[in-house]
Amino acid sequence: MCGKIRNYNDAASDIIERVMCLNEKNPKIIKILVMQINETIDRMDSVNRIEHFNEYNTKESVYLDITTALMRNSSGECIGVICSFNDITNRKKIEESVERIDRLTSLGELTAALAHEIRNPLSGIKMSAQILNKRLTSHLKASEQNLFEAIIKETDRLDLLITDLLNFSKPRIPKFQIIDVFEILNRALLFSDKKIREKNTIVSINNDIDESQVYFDKGQLLQIFLNIISNSLDAIDTEGGLKISVEKLVYKNDACICVSFEDNGCGIDKENINRIFDPFFTTKESGTGLGLSVVHKLATSNNGNIEIESIESVGTIVKVYLPKYRGEINEY
Ligand SMILES: Nc1ncnc2c1ncn2[C@@H]1O[C@H](COP(=O)(O)OP(=O)(O)OP(=O)(O)O)[C@@H](O)[C@H]1O
Ligand SMILES: [Mg+2]
Repeated sequence: MCGKIRNYNDAASDIIERVMCLNEKNPKIIKILVMQINETIDRMDSVNRIEHFNEYNTKESVYLDITTALMRNSSGECIGVICSFNDITNRKKIEESVERIDRLTSLGELTAALAHEIRNPLSGIKMSAQILNKRLTSHLKASEQNLFEAIIKETDRLDLLITDLLNFSKPRIPKFQIIDVFEILNRALLFSDKKIREKNTIVSINNDIDESQVYFDKGQLLQIFLNIISNSLDAIDTEGGLKISVEKLVYKNDACICVSFEDNGCGIDKENINRIFDPFFTTKESGTGLGLSVVHKLATSNNGNIEIESIESVGTIVKVYLPKYRGEINEY
């Protein structure tokens, strides 16, 4: 064997070109190939491995199943090594999402049980604090009154967290109805008004549609918008901008309305982008990391979807796809 490549087909050349730069000095794919071919010759047997690469142009993950086997002539003599590549990226992605669903299912069951157990004693604490506060009110100094208020406020905060946990683990079955996107959007902006004013954020709404009705659960759509707006406001510095656009489009063959929220905040680190929908993933000191996992669950259980694109230090676009009412088809 002379160590030369004798022949390769178009598919092999396409795959190799996808994962390496032609001017690269020591490309990973070539190092792996040389190592695997040597191993095949040393062992006089086939070798198979799955390797991860980043596509050269898009930087997206590519998984290749690489098999090297001995090539023999008619008298059984070894005359070379044959190498085959199989792009298994899609299979890997499916495996990863199945794993994620498994993880979420067990986490969801645990969370639901835990949230239930916490909610009862918590409402007991809150009620007792409220009663005590009322009974003692005339004897309390202002500082003591503040302490009571802090107890009640903090129990409310915990209660909200538990609601999020329960929504995440056992989302309520959507109550579908025809609703106007702008009605819910305006309500979400009104609820976020305090934070918007504190940060001096410039909010703009771009309406590109004449008919803005969608088929969705009203309360759940409000929750989706509130979470997304809250994340954008957390991400932007004071005097940043949040551009909201509403447009009509076809998503996966169905007519829908897409509401996108574009902020010019800190953006999301490339390493984190795949984790933002994971429950409890947060980069914030006081975040719970449940916002986007709840949003994702609510969007999909209402037959919609959510996509996020982000560039670190530039900003983030969150797109929410909301199905339009399609008559009887929607009833089932
Ligand atoms: N618009 C955004 N800009 C930058 N980072 C974002 C944006 N939206 C989400 N993220 C990142 O995704 C993470 C997860 O968001 P998520 O809403 O699930 O949780 P959280 O905001 O940290 O906590 P909470 O449960 O209180 O919402 C955030 O901690 C943040 O790092
Ligand atoms: Mg959030």
